[in-house]
Amino acid sequence: LKLNTDHNNVVKIKNIIIESMLGPGGFAVDATAGNGNDSLLLSDTVGKNGKVLSFDIQESAISNSHSLLKSKAKYNNYRFVCDCHTRLSEYIDEPVDIFVYNLGYLPGGDKSKTTTAENTIISIKTAMSLLKIKGGLLIVSYPGHESGYREEKAIRLFSEELDQRKWSVLRSEFINQVNSPPVLYFIQKR
Ligand SMILES: C[S@@+](CC[C@H](N)C(=O)[O-])C[C@H]1O[C@@H](n2cnc3c(N)ncnc32)[C@H](O)[C@@H]1O
Repeated sequence: LKLNTDHNNVVKIKNIIIESMLGPGGFAVDATAGNGNDSLLLSDTVGKNGKVLSFDIQESAISNSHSLLKSKAKYNNYRFVCDCHTRLSEYIDEPVDIFVYNLGYLPGGDKSKTTTAENTIISIKTAMSLLKIKGGLLIVSYPGHESGYREEKAIRLFSEELDQRKWSVLRSEFINQVNSPPVLYFIQKR
């Protein structure tokens, strides 16, 4: 960690893991494109020979993300899909380095269009089946709102049962912060 930077939220920790795991030529999937911030980081990190595939169920999120990458991305290495992330396997036919999930609803958008425990668990299982060895899932979960609380609990129950000979599971949160701070999961295939 660089000592002149505040590492005070799990989104930053997620980005540090992305930058340490993913490199040029990689294949990354953003399972919740939202405003495109994760897709942009993934696009910059995999470079001109890599690729990024990004999903969102909302046209408005896809269009926000597309505009962000059009103006800021250094490489034309990304594609957007307006579909539910339970259907990842319809679009992916080669092993993936990293899946990123930033759960919940679009900031400033319709709060009812949120990720759900049921769909998220289906999607996580599918993503796990599409990973390269040493590839991983990074999931930021927000237990501070009602459906986010259920979702975080479901991810915890699911991931703590995974066979440790096959999967490493890290669960990380800033435990001195008020109001149910977000939780980061890192599930890596061994
Ligand atoms: C917190 S935002 C993501 C933020 C984004 N990663 C960024 O960097 O700006 C969550 C997004 O998940 C999307 N979403 C909700 N349910 C989904 C589903 N089943 N499949 C794909 N995306 C979904 C929402 O539309 C919303 O845009």
